[in-house]
Amino acid sequence: MADHKLTAAKAALSLIGPNQSIGLGAGSTIMHLVNLIANECKYAASLNFASSSFKTTQLLSARSLRVSPPALLHKLDLYFDGCDQFDAELNALKSGGGIHTTEKVLASMADEFVLLGDESKFAKHLNAAYPLVIEILPQALQIVLTKAAGMFPLATITQRMSTQKDGALISDNGNMLVDVYFTEMPNARELNVQVKMIPGVVEHSLFYHLATKAIIAGEGGVQSILP
Ligand code: 5RP
Repeated sequence: MADHKLTAAKAALSLIGPNQSIGLGAGSTIMHLVNLIANECKYAASLNFASSSFKTTQLLSARSLRVSPPALLHKLDLYFDGCDQFDAELNALKSGGGIHTTEKVLASMADEFVLLGDESKFAKHLNAAYPLVIEILPQALQIVLTKAAGMFPLATITQRMSTQKDGALISDNGNMLVDVYFTEMPNARELNVQVKMIPGVVEHSLFYHLATKAIIAGEGGVQSILP
């Protein structure tokens, strides 16, 4: 069976020009993209990358591609990332990996933010199939949990726990991670602001009106979607 994520990553190669600064998220589609850039992109040696995840950074280094810390960069030409699901306005739910804060920072630095994946990622309207992930300052954990439960009384809210340490899972930024499973997806515009405004919330995993394009592939071929 064809790997549609690989096909979408291949289609993204044509967006890359010489000397660009490129941000990358995480996931299997992005892994394909890194390998394709290393193997097939004639500009590879001139590119500079910023990465949201340790795994992506490791692969970039292993493929001898140049990586800079995001803190040293003012802007990016392009940001590529996968997602769990996106809608017709290109609002995306992300972060099985709990790394959405850095991903959102990189997305906000880019002239173009391109979502990549197979066609299963697209839903006309975001639905409740995936949780909203909230990164929370440790000292604000209980108050944010209380306020979120008040805001979304029907939702199931669970803190991510470490499988190895019998304690809280700590994010790359030293914070707590909480998954909010809705029974019905709230209005995206309201959700975006409502959760972000709770003191102690570092960032949530709804990428509202940030992506500028999506490239998805399926049995029918490659589709480029604009908001
Ligand atoms: C990481 C993500 C990933 O982009 C998302 O899980 C998609 O991964 P894949 O390309 O393997 O489908 O949101 O936070």
